[in-house]
Amino acid sequence: MTAVSLLSSLAACLALFIAYRVYQAQALRLKAQKHGCQPAPRYKHKDPIFGLDIFMRTGDAITKNRFLIEHQKRYDTYGHTFEALNFGSHAIYSVHPQNLRAVWSTKAADWGIQPLRLHNMKPFCGVGFITTDGPEWKSSHALLKPGFHKSNISDFAPLEEHLRIMLDQIPKDGSKFDLQDWIFKLYLDMNTLFLFGEPIGMLSASPPPHAEGFLDAFQEGFNGCGMRIALGPLKVLLPTGGWLKACAKTHKFADVYVDRALEYREKHLAAKVGEAPVKQRTLLYNMAQQTGNRTVLRDQIVQAMMAATETTASLVSTVIHVLATHPPVFAKLRAEILAVGDESLDFDRLSSIKYLQNVITETLRLYPVFPQNNRVALKDTVLPTGGGQDGTSPIFAPAGTLFDTCFATLHRDKKIWGSDAEEFRPDRWDGGFTPSQYEFMPFGAGLRQCLAQQKATMETSYIVTRMLQEFKEIKSEDDRPWQAQVALTAKNANGCLVSLTPAT
Ligand code: HEM
Ligand SMILES: *[C@@H]1O[C@H](CO)[C@@H](O)[C@H](O)[C@H]1NC(C)=O
Ligand SMILES: *[C@@H]1O[C@H](CO)[C@@H](O)[C@H](O)[C@H]1NC(C)=O
Repeated sequence: MTAVSLLSSLAACLALFIAYRVYQAQALRLKAQKHGCQPAPRYKHKDPIFGLDIFMRTGDAITKNRFLIEHQKRYDTYGHTFEALNFGSHAIYSVHPQNLRAVWSTKAADWGIQPLRLHNMKPFCGVGFITTDGPEWKSSHALLKPGFHKSNISDFAPLEEHLRIMLDQIPKDGSKFDLQDWIFKLYLDMNTLFLFGEPIGMLSASPPPHAEGFLDAFQEGFNGCGMRIALGPLKVLLPTGGWLKACAKTHKFADVYVDRALEYREKHLAAKVGEAPVKQRTLLYNMAQQTGNRTVLRDQIVQAMMAATETTASLVSTVIHVLATHPPVFAKLRAEILAVGDESLDFDRLSSIKYLQNVITETLRLYPVFPQNNRVALKDTVLPTGGGQDGTSPIFAPAGTLFDTCFATLHRDKKIWGSDAEEFRPDRWDGGFTPSQYEFMPFGAGLRQCLAQQKATMETSYIVTRMLQEFKEIKSEDDRPWQAQVALTAKNANGCLVSLTPAT
């Protein structure tokens, strides 16, 4: 084939594709009219065919830790809801609570995640609550749920034990260090203990032998999922060999524990004797009481590890960052905590320190650990608002539409929070003002709402209380503002640089 004929075939393909797009856009307009819908403002693409410019801008913003700023700017420009192209397909961006209700509420059967995630993530984490909709999601959810019941998450003894190991090692002579690193180590241990029944030895620097290389493999496997979702059809450009090796290594690690849990299941079920309480609180053993299917157990536990990674740890380090940079908040909170005295710190006691809960809630408002999320329309459907001249008409979302939202923007909306929306003000949660479920969504909402909400907030309460008992001053050693580094979750890109003054 000559260069000329190759070029002309390419040109013909492109022309056909454009004609198809024009036809598609026209069909969409007709369907929308039939449903009484009006289009929302349209993102001003430089690439009007595939919309690759928005993809490039997002990628650039992520690498520069400006992802949330970029989102805020888009909503400032176009309003609470706008439409854009996502690799040539239809996408809706919205932070309007009515649209969020339509997509997230328990009745929102038109929206899901499976078409976006399962085929991209299956080699790493298989079939489970993160990758499925409908009945498969439902059975996954049922399998996990008992493990998060208050009765199975309210023993703080293991957390205290690991916190002690951390406290023994961090600098207490007033020198500057990154506390975020330590909190992340603490949580690698706490998460592996809760999920698998054994800490991975980050704090003690003594990982079990089969853990060699696991964390790197897990991270690579997890990132590979994220990359494949983000790249859409361009994912075919990614090499797969290394990723599949990382997936295999992750499975090998998980299987050590799955096999132990299955052994336990056999003994426990055969003997019909009461199980050891510590095993009961391990998520994997807990699930093994319900199923003996090896693949199911492995997939769910890897997905649970994904859900737990950099979540509670991010929240704890951000709360400490906020306290270190707001001395009056620190002083008020410390006084309330000291007033509790030496009584043991259980759920009830920690919940009763109202100002502590307000500080944590306000931190989740301004710095949500999951700052963004999305869904896919499983069939043709309608969103209640954002279309037409005044932006209040319903908008049409054909099957396959990507719905993208940003909780960080939602949580700073002046129409909801008032003119001081950008200010860290824990007392706002005292004034009788309660936002609706779709105005404040740090743990999501509806069916897929976080199962670990209580676990995460209570553990954060516990650690913050213990830190403020141990230290009379936590001084910030960083004058840069909190800056979101976003993967799936957000953490401070600059860590949590502090110096500590012990209480005694
Ligand atoms: C501060 C910490 C955390 C935050 C802010 C958080 C937030 C969230 C959010 C926003 C969702 C909903 C996702 C969606 O709608 O697509 C979710 C789901 C979930 N999270 Fe969390 N999470 C946290 C910690 C954890 C931890 C530590 C675990 C496990 C140990 C966990 C387990 C789960 C599970 C199992 C689900 C899925 C529930 C279902 O689909 O049935 N989360 N989380
Ligand atoms: C706690 O876990 C155990 C072990 O699986 C389970 O039998 C029990 O139902 C859980 N507790 C609750 C109240 O869900
Ligand atoms: C385990 O569960 C999977 C998914 O539900 C199923 O396809 C498979 O056949 C099951 N395996 C066994 C041994 O029952």
